[in-house]
Amino acid sequence: MTILVTGGLGYIGSHTVVELLNNGFDVVIVDDLSNSEKFILNNIEEVAGKKPVFYPFDLKRRELLKQLLDAHKIDGCIHFAAYKAVGESQEKPVDYYENNLFSLINLLQEFKERNISNFIFSSSCTVYGQADKQPIDEDTPLKLPESSYGKTKQMGEEIIKDFATAHHKKVTLLRYFNPIGAHPSAKLGELPIGIPNNLVPYVTQTAAGIREKLNVWGNDYPTEDGTAIRDYIYVVDLAKAHVAALKKLLKEEADTVIDVYNLGTGKGSSVLEVVHAFEAANSVEVPYQICERRPGDITIAYANADKAENELGWKADTSLEEALRTTWQWQKYLEQRQ
Ligand code: UFG
Repeated sequence: MTILVTGGLGYIGSHTVVELLNNGFDVVIVDDLSNSEKFILNNIEEVAGKKPVFYPFDLKRRELLKQLLDAHKIDGCIHFAAYKAVGESQEKPVDYYENNLFSLINLLQEFKERNISNFIFSSSCTVYGQADKQPIDEDTPLKLPESSYGKTKQMGEEIIKDFATAHHKKVTLLRYFNPIGAHPSAKLGELPIGIPNNLVPYVTQTAAGIREKLNVWGNDYPTEDGTAIRDYIYVVDLAKAHVAALKKLLKEEADTVIDVYNLGTGKGSSVLEVVHAFEAANSVEVPYQICERRPGDITIAYANADKAENELGWKADTSLEEALRTTWQWQKYLEQRQ
């Protein structure tokens, strides 16, 4: 059984490729290397003991996608390839719509023509915005996200649902909360590009001395310590959820399936809790200062992940500390590679 993984050399993609290979799937990766590096492919092979097929191209190049699909019989697809920086999407919205939506549409056009089903989409809890109640389950009303990045995720979901309904296809929308951590081998993780926007990469670089101080964006939120709360999910747990979702789709007898799952731990952690957990897990110091709130940030978001547990038999069970230990190991690996 061969699975096409787009963005398979990226952060969540590479961890998912390893889990697919460990579960006996053959994998074909397409990745344009815009947010990854070629050595990740070798590291996937080292970790999983098998090498996936790799195509380095941009999915907006439909003719190259056609060639790939002519050369391989594809049984399903996990679609990660997308631009993902919230702040950047505000500066370059049209680039985000072009990249994230055209690549999705090219895939769906080809799958429609070739009758390929079993499509899994990398979505985000950003589709809920600041929800009226916590934890957030899948029936929580969606709100139009503020960022153009978030809008591409919400639009992507709608396009995929229409595709499934009109063309009788099986699809799953996976809404991630905040992925963190690295592979326990320390061979795969999030590659830093410029100044990190996300909390855990910034904390890690501060501990490593690359950044002077972490800016904590606001301590006047209505939470216990005043800092904002998120649901931090370990990336290997997240990767395993993709395999569980794929196996469920493959088993479904109905020709049309639209599954939606929140992927989180069900537990919220504040910014300061993450900072202190990182310090405790790795015996390092993370200097920080309190700053103004970051525009567009919400106060709190954590998942009700019961649906994924009940229907996929999957649960995120790695602790925050354990996940943060792997992040530090990955940082050490990157330093020693330089
Ligand atoms: N934070 C800081 N300092 C930093 C970075 C982050 O205090 O240097 C705080 C933020 O203000 C926020 C929390 O840490 O309260 C988490 O911030 P991240 O940027 O790591 O994550 P977000 O929850 O803002 O964004 C994430 C994903 C997006 C996705 C969004 C959905 O990065 O892709 O969740 O809510 F759209």
